[in-house]
Amino acid sequence: MTQRIAVIGGGENAEHDVSLATARAVAGALRSGGFGVDDLIIGRDGVWRRGADALGSRAAGSLAAALSVIERADVVFPAVHGPSGEDGTLAALCALTHTPMVGSDLRAGAIGMDKWATKLVAEAVGIHTAPGRLVTAAESADVEFKTDVVVKPVSAGSSFGVALAHDASQLRDALRDAARFDDRLLVEDVVTGREIDVAVLREADGRRWAAPPLEIHADGLFDTRSKYDGSARFSVPADLGDADRAALTAAALRMFDALGCAGVARIDFFLTDHGPVLNEVNTMPGMTAESQVPRMFAVAGLPYEHLVVRLVAAATVPGPPTRA
Ligand SMILES: Nc1ncnc2c1ncn2[C@@H]1O[C@H](COP(=O)(O)OP(=O)(O)O)[C@@H](O)[C@H]1O
Ligand SMILES: [Mg+2]
Repeated sequence: MTQRIAVIGGGENAEHDVSLATARAVAGALRSGGFGVDDLIIGRDGVWRRGADALGSRAAGSLAAALSVIERADVVFPAVHGPSGEDGTLAALCALTHTPMVGSDLRAGAIGMDKWATKLVAEAVGIHTAPGRLVTAAESADVEFKTDVVVKPVSAGSSFGVALAHDASQLRDALRDAARFDDRLLVEDVVTGREIDVAVLREADGRRWAAPPLEIHADGLFDTRSKYDGSARFSVPADLGDADRAALTAAALRMFDALGCAGVARIDFFLTDHGPVLNEVNTMPGMTAESQVPRMFAVAGLPYEHLVVRLVAAATVPGPPTRA
């Protein structure tokens, strides 16, 4: 029987359009693989649609209508990046409705979405991160920092609100800009190193493995513009020595396991003279065919359509491992 997959895209944050692109690509791959697909879209205002059809005029009523689509689905594929999606919100919806879903559960999504919490977990399992300080947007005006730092919102993505600050005036602007995206901000030391991403996939049998890492060649910060205007250059596989590849892959798997990720996660590092420094964990990374994750798996011999189908095959009902 044809399996029905509800692919959820859009969402209520700055990455709305990026999520729509991921959802469109995933839905296309599933349709060509013979699956029945329902396209659910969360508007910027939180109102759900099914394709072009409005499901209501307010968030709650439209979600009630979307639930009947989810009820008929065999699997939900949440393709919403960022807050109120990737942060575990959609995993919670699947847990409460007992619906198998692709990707990480609420805990892994929530911790991965929080760059401060991610840092604490990483350091606890022996993975280095950039020294950094957490400040609230409210106190940021009164706090003194040294300069040559990177300022970023704790929970955002696609480089929105991320900036380098070399002097006090740039720092003020960077803090103000980052505060548009979150009221918790991170001020980090600048890490000097190559930017290397590692993608980890957890298969239906629970086995998880990392694809060959990818290197991003960005001029300075890998910013929003270079992420989406096609100017970023990637090397896949990254040109790495055996020891560096092994260290990056081991750190990625350790982080995947520490958070209890599922489906696919992209774990981003700087490779420094002293080894890998973790930058961040993405539990719902960009998933168009041109995005980093599919490009890494393609090099591992897993083409885009197959990757998407493997993710659906590995879907589980999120929730506590033991149901007493
Ligand atoms: N501490 C840092 N040192 C140097 N560059 C950084 C640092 N933090 C972030 N960057 C740069 O900024 C980009 C975006 O930051 P990141 O934390 O990955 O945010 P996002 O979640 O929006 O992708 C990174 O890809 C990297 O190029
Ligand atoms: Mg990033």
